[in-house]
Amino acid sequence: MKDEKDINIEKDELTGDELIKGHDYDGIKELNNSLPKWWLWLFYITIIFAVVYLIRYEVMKTGDSQEEEYAKEMAIANMKLKSKRSSSLDETNVTRLTDKKSLEEGKKIYDKLCLVCHLSKGEGLVGPNLTDEYWIHGGSIGDIFKIIKVGNPSKGMISWKDQLTPKKIQQVSSFIMSLQGTNPPNAKAKEGKLYKPEN
Ligand code: HEC
Repeated sequence: MKDEKDINIEKDELTGDELIKGHDYDGIKELNNSLPKWWLWLFYITIIFAVVYLIRYEVMKTGDSQEEEYAKEMAIANMKLKSKRSSSLDETNVTRLTDKKSLEEGKKIYDKLCLVCHLSKGEGLVGPNLTDEYWIHGGSIGDIFKIIKVGNPSKGMISWKDQLTPKKIQQVSSFIMSLQGTNPPNAKAKEGKLYKPEN
């Protein structure tokens, strides 16, 4: 513990600066210490930053303002959203995929979402048999795509278009077509009309 006298003669350890005499307010004394180096550097950096900022954003106007940045980002996000939504793939132009990877993707979707009603081999349970040539809604790739997309909720088949992108509907439709003629055991009796692919 230092008494008042000690404080009065104290000098800064680095510079030897004395404390400021007479700056004594209610017993609180001010020392004439130099500022720490790290603090000074921070201070200089803020000055440099301010000058660069001022020139870039206020004088030369080469940087985007907050509003401009926001507008640009929103425009990009909107574009992405649009291209995702208005993906031009639909029941009128969809084609059947036969490559292994697409069919595997289709099977994954099927096993996750469709298997409960159509069973693992497509033999049918709540939903109709998907392996025979009889279809309630038609057996072309476009027909299958459409029923998956819009569903038939009153009969228990929901619309999947909010959960599956057109690409995914295409994959699962193609997978279903690959089940044609597989004749799984315990298949459900035929429903709908005979569909013959036109060649
Ligand atoms: C909650 C049960 C249920 C689930 C889950 C389900 N379906 Fe269905 N599905 C049905 C029913 C019931 C029908 C028959 C609708 C009708 O009679 O119009 C049907 C019909 C279909 C048809 C038309 C069959 C035909 O004969 O025309 C296809 C294709 C189909 N579903 C595919 C799918 C796919 C793909 C999924 C998964 C993404 C799926 N279903 C999930 C119940 C379901």
